[in-house]
Amino acid sequence: MQQRNLRNLTVSAIGLGCMGFSHGYGATPTEEESIRLIRKAYDDFGCTLFDTAEVYANYENEILVGKALRPIRDKVILCTKFMPEKFLPGQEIPEGKTSRRGLRNALEASLKRLQTDYVDLYYEHRVPQGKDVGEVAEWMGELISEGKIRAWGVSEATPAQIRRAHTVTPLSAVQSEYSLMERRVEAEVLPLCKELSIGFVAYSPMASGFLSGKYSSADTFTGDDVRRVITRFDKKNIDANQPLLDLLHAYAKDKGATPAQISLAWMLHKYDNIVPIPGMRRDERMTENFGAVDVTLTDTEMQKLEEELSHIAIHGDRKDSDIQKLGTVETVATH
Ligand SMILES: NC(=O)c1ccc[n+]([C@@H]2O[C@H](COP(=O)([O-])OP(=O)(O)OC[C@H]3O[C@@H](n4cnc5c(N)ncnc54)[C@H](OP(=O)(O)O)[C@@H]3O)[C@@H](O)[C@H]2O)c1
Repeated sequence: MQQRNLRNLTVSAIGLGCMGFSHGYGATPTEEESIRLIRKAYDDFGCTLFDTAEVYANYENEILVGKALRPIRDKVILCTKFMPEKFLPGQEIPEGKTSRRGLRNALEASLKRLQTDYVDLYYEHRVPQGKDVGEVAEWMGELISEGKIRAWGVSEATPAQIRRAHTVTPLSAVQSEYSLMERRVEAEVLPLCKELSIGFVAYSPMASGFLSGKYSSADTFTGDDVRRVITRFDKKNIDANQPLLDLLHAYAKDKGATPAQISLAWMLHKYDNIVPIPGMRRDERMTENFGAVDVTLTDTEMQKLEEELSHIAIHGDRKDSDIQKLGTVETVATH
């Protein structure tokens, strides 16, 4: 697969978001099947970027990803995240996680679960409001010089936080939600990443599957499926958002591709150092999504697509504030 750079890390142009193997999208595959799929991403498609976090199913996802990647650990870029203001079992230290000791403890525990002695890319999952991100940046710098992590990043950070963090210890990546349905980062965050040569990792690049065009208002989402609270998936909004899919279908037909592939190709065209990390739990979705690297949009096609997109309104939102409705999985949409 084509390669891209997250500053000092070279990764495949499309990575694998591993969260859904343990939580967030309803029923999960068996452990055996999840491990098979994670290894397949590397073996069959050359995917080298794998994304997890301590909060995904309270550590379970890290454990799964560690097991899956063990035989190929030195060949892949393993990314995980610590959540500063959320205490998970065993993390109740008096100083909290936004302390030198707290951060170090969180990392050491992640390393054990991941069965490795270093993390390639370690993210601060959310940067707390009103706290100086420079402190965490400094501690991340220490972890880098000790070889415990190779690079660090921030997730859903503001432009001011990104600038400040990068001044103290250069960031390799900013990870935020980005797709044809969620384009807020285009205003400031993406231009800033370009200016500072920071990689951008796009989570939920398929807008939780919507952009594949395979979901309809007849679908029902159950259990911990985040689509129960993302209002773009309200039945009326699924219908109201059809013009976007119609446009993607038209481009897909023209290019001999699929709407999912056009969505990813659009994103890959935006910035040389952008890497989408779709979640995929079926063989055919891997073939489709990783295949998007071979779908190229010319500058003229991009301009035309952008012009057409500008006439299409997006109905619904990610709706973080309603996430409590999911009870114990309240972390899904915000993490
Ligand atoms: N930093 C953060 O705060 C944050 C937040 C959320 C997620 N993440 C990371 O980003 C990763 C990706 O996010 P996401 O899982 O929301 O991404 P996504 O790819 O936008 O959504 C995943 C959903 O879309 C479906 N899908 C993907 N490609 C498809 C295709 N070609 N056809 C049909 N359905 C398709 C998946 O189906 P199946 O899985 O059922 O196959 C799954 O239900 C996560 O795994 C996690 O590592 C980070």
